[in-house]
Amino acid sequence: MKTSVKKCLFPAAGYGTRFLPATKAIPKEMLPILTKPLLQYGVEEARSAGIDTMAIVTGRGKRAIEDHFDRSYELEHQIDGTSKEALMFEIRDIVKNCTISYTRQVEMKGLGHAILTGETLIGDEPFAVILADDLCDNAENEPVLSQMVKLYAQYQCSIVAVEEVPTKDTNKYGIVAGEFITPDIMRVQNMVEKPEPQDAPSNLAIIGRYILTPDIFDIIRDVKPGKGGEIQITDALLEQAKQGRVIAYKFKGKRFDCGSVDGFVEATNYFYAKSNA
Ligand code: G1P
Repeated sequence: MKTSVKKCLFPAAGYGTRFLPATKAIPKEMLPILTKPLLQYGVEEARSAGIDTMAIVTGRGKRAIEDHFDRSYELEHQIDGTSKEALMFEIRDIVKNCTISYTRQVEMKGLGHAILTGETLIGDEPFAVILADDLCDNAENEPVLSQMVKLYAQYQCSIVAVEEVPTKDTNKYGIVAGEFITPDIMRVQNMVEKPEPQDAPSNLAIIGRYILTPDIFDIIRDVKPGKGGEIQITDALLEQAKQGRVIAYKFKGKRFDCGSVDGFVEATNYFYAKSNA
């Protein structure tokens, strides 16, 4: 098995109903923070972690994603040699230097199912997962996924990024519990998808960054539908955790829940202030 992480999976099939009507014809992953779509932030984070193969799990109505990560000859011809060219630098660089492949999730059966749908693009190697609506930024300039890829080199097991959340919010996240082996790293012993506060084993919540070992695919295939009747990645990871093969990492940086209007506005204000700093 490969020992380094070279591919990143982006589940991007969800409907984004919290952003209707904006997401009626536009994928939620294409909503911009300032001028850049959420998914592009995710792809850039993956690249900064040394990954240039992107695997995107899409669904119906998501074609704008493929068009975004492609050439646009007419537009590019129009802006060639103008001041606008600079605005396209990053996306052009991605299109030129990354391999991006797609598969479609035909039925919405949960995050675990979306990840299993991506198996065909990943194969038998460890891989990262970025949920683009969790937008991360790191003041110290090392993106979260890059921090995690380094940890993978050391621990060679699945890794989830976690942060503390208010107890009342445990029912919005996968929650982990276990033993800290360093101040930032926990060997996970228990994980529960979206427990009510009174049932939560801790207030450490999984955010949308994972590194998964490829045996997760077989485990997902056997996982029974969990919370909400969906196939949950949290339940599959619990099987690995029982064998001591999952660590939770309290990442350095800031994370915005851009799947909610409040988090989206907060991220917009934060990145706007940063761009003017
Ligand atoms: C998913 C996962 C959950 C995780 C969250 C992070 O939930 O199921 O365990 O904490 O992403 O954003 P979703 O937000 O898709 O409902």
